[in-house]
Amino acid sequence: QIGRIAQQLGTPAYLVGGAVRDLFLKRDAPDLDVAVEGDTRALAEACKAQIHSTHYQFHAQFGTAILESSQGMALDLAQCRLEHYPAPAALPEVRPGNIQTDLARRDFTVNAMAIRLNPQQFGILLDPYDGQADLQAGLLRTLHSRSFLDDPTRILRGLRFATRFQMDLAPESHQQLKQALQADIFTPLSGARLWRELRYLLELEALPSALPLLSAWKLWFLLRPKPPASSTLPTLLQRGHEQIQWLQAQFPDEPLDVFIPMLILIWQDVRLSDIQHCLDRWPVPDRGRLLADLRALPGLPETLLKAKHPSQKANIWQGVSVAGILAAMAIYADNATIVDSARLYLQVQKHLPSLLNGQELQTLGLKAGPSLGKTLKLLREAQLNGEISNKENAQQWLIK
Ligand code: CTP
Repeated sequence: QIGRIAQQLGTPAYLVGGAVRDLFLKRDAPDLDVAVEGDTRALAEACKAQIHSTHYQFHAQFGTAILESSQGMALDLAQCRLEHYPAPAALPEVRPGNIQTDLARRDFTVNAMAIRLNPQQFGILLDPYDGQADLQAGLLRTLHSRSFLDDPTRILRGLRFATRFQMDLAPESHQQLKQALQADIFTPLSGARLWRELRYLLELEALPSALPLLSAWKLWFLLRPKPPASSTLPTLLQRGHEQIQWLQAQFPDEPLDVFIPMLILIWQDVRLSDIQHCLDRWPVPDRGRLLADLRALPGLPETLLKAKHPSQKANIWQGVSVAGILAAMAIYADNATIVDSARLYLQVQKHLPSLLNGQELQTLGLKAGPSLGKTLKLLREAQLNGEISNKENAQQWLIK
């Protein structure tokens, strides 16, 4: 359909990037990228009307449009470009180009293929860098020798593709990776761009399989001062993933950044002073919370052991984020007391509605102020300890 609309406008349009790669891999593509030789806006607006798009955004500055079809398929239209990198790791300067220049600016040969969408020559594959052959051989190959120096995020993209599709770096690309690391190419990269890529990596379901690659590609330094000493990290991450899935199944609406438990697990045996520079450089959300979790986690078995009452245990968990609790459940998976108590907190205690609120306490004669807050806290503890369970016995408990 896009091809027909493009044809009416006299605009060549091509399916590009991941969607073409995924087609050859027989995988569903989450979104479709279309490269347009010409007026992207006119094509985007015509598509918007004809595919009954539920969402539409046009960015004049980048010549890109995002549409969503009524079936929920995302469609990204972008004008073909030509890119020039003014300095290593800097953002590229961009000019309008054609499909050849647009493929030439891409990261790996397997991502540098295009399929023509216009009915005239529909389905013709443009594969100037032999991406199809590399895909069959399971090889990630850069398009030119300066690729990683121009854009070091490609290294982390490569790591993700290698993990997801079980591919290897082609030997000459591996050589380029070594040169890029010797040139310290991640130093000039902005913290925001580095963090974005690391976040995508931490979100990978197959994250445990990325660990041997982090070693082979000598990239651990991006995440920690030294590679992990023990071989337990893959198991730990796998368990972390299972706990995340458990929580998401129980509480689909619970907001959770899945990369945070993974980061906590990767850092659980690292000195905080050794990761401070990462937190200073990366825009990690809620850094203070993350640091507090990392500080609390090692002492958890002892503090929980000392806690006699359910309310004391709940108070301990309340001081840890949900992400931190999931990480703790993975770290202490063999300690049933910790895991059970964490589950009880996440499933029940965290959601207990208060039996009496501040206003009700005031109607009962309590004055607003710190003592009211203290009473509310005591009521909650009594509720957690099973001493009260409804408004009536809460009131009686108060009188006593
Ligand atoms: N691309 C690139 N270099 C980058 C970012 C993107 O060459 N630093 C190109 C690649 O051709 C890539 C396409 O833009 O295939 C789309 O990028 P993106 O959506 O990030 O990844 P996909 O390849 O589509 O993979 P997926 O969405 O499945 O992760």
